[in-house]
Amino acid sequence: MELPLSQAAFDRFRHFLHERTGIQLAPARKSLITGRLWRRLWHLRIASYDDYLNYVLSGEDPAETQVMLDLLTTNETSFFREIRHFDFLREHARQRRDLPGPIRVWSAACSTGEEPYSIAMVLDDALGSEKWQVVGSDVSKIALDAARAGLYPASALERVPPKYAQRYFTPHGTGGVGILTALRNRVAFKHVNLNSDWPIMGEFDLIFLRNVIIYFDLATRRRLIDRLLRALKPGGFLLTGHAENIGGINEELQNVQPAIYTVAAR
Ligand SMILES: C[S@@+](CC[C@H](N)C(=O)[O-])C[C@H]1O[C@@H](n2cnc3c(N)ncnc32)[C@H](O)[C@@H]1O
Repeated sequence: MELPLSQAAFDRFRHFLHERTGIQLAPARKSLITGRLWRRLWHLRIASYDDYLNYVLSGEDPAETQVMLDLLTTNETSFFREIRHFDFLREHARQRRDLPGPIRVWSAACSTGEEPYSIAMVLDDALGSEKWQVVGSDVSKIALDAARAGLYPASALERVPPKYAQRYFTPHGTGGVGILTALRNRVAFKHVNLNSDWPIMGEFDLIFLRNVIIYFDLATRRRLIDRLLRALKPGGFLLTGHAENIGGINEELQNVQPAIYTVAAR
C-alpha cells in the first residue's frame, strides 16, 4: 500500500537526487518516488518518506544511499538499441583494423549490460578477440551486478542479429540466455557516477553516452560533456541517444551523423 508523499518531502528527494547524481526529476514525477520506494519503507518498517530520507541522510546505514539510488534510477535498455550506432561502430572498426593499438570504447551509463555487450559483439566480430577493450559503467550497483552476471530472458534476443545470437549467447536455466563467458570476461564493469569523480580509465576512441543525459539539467549536461570530451582520443566519437540533442552545448563538438559527434581539432 502506497503512503502519501507531501510536496515538501518530494522536494527534498528531488534535491537529494539532483545533488548526488545530476538527475532532475520533473515536478510532476511524485509517483516515481512513491511507486519505487514504498516497498523499501515497508521492508524497513519506516512510516513516512520524510523519515526514510532522514534515515538515509543520518548515515546510520551508509549502504542505504546506494539502495535508494538503485531504486530511483531508470535502467531501461536493450541489445542493439538504436542500431545505426552499431553500424557506425562496425564500419569504424573495419577502417581501423590494420592500425596498431586496441579500439577502446566506454559505455558510460551501461545499465544492465546490453549496450556494452552489443559493442563487444560488434568489435569481436570485426577485429577478432584481441584488438579491443570495452568498459561499462553505471551509478546503479544493482544494474552493474546484473551486467556482470550477463544473464537475460530469451526475449532480450529480439534485436540481436541472428549470427551474433548464435555465436555469443548460450542457453541458461529454463528459457534464459547468458553471454558467452569468453566475451563476458572481456568487458570490464565499473561503478562510476558521471557527475562525481571518476577512476582513471585512460582515453577512449568512442564513448556511448546514450539515454542518460535526458535526465540531467542543462548545466549538468554541459559540465559532463566538457569532461567527456577530455576523455576522448583525438578524432574520437561521442554517441548520444537519438532523442538527446547536444548540438550547441560545447563549441568543440562537431556533429558527424545523427547523435554522433566528434571534436574539432584542439
Ligand atoms: C535508460 S538507461 C540507458 C542505458 C543504455 N545507455 C541505453 O541507452 O540503453 C540510463 C542509465 O543511466 C544511469 N545513470 C543515471 N544517472 C547516472 C549518473 N549520474 N552516473 C552514471 N550513470 C547514471 C542509470 O542508472 C541507468 O542505468
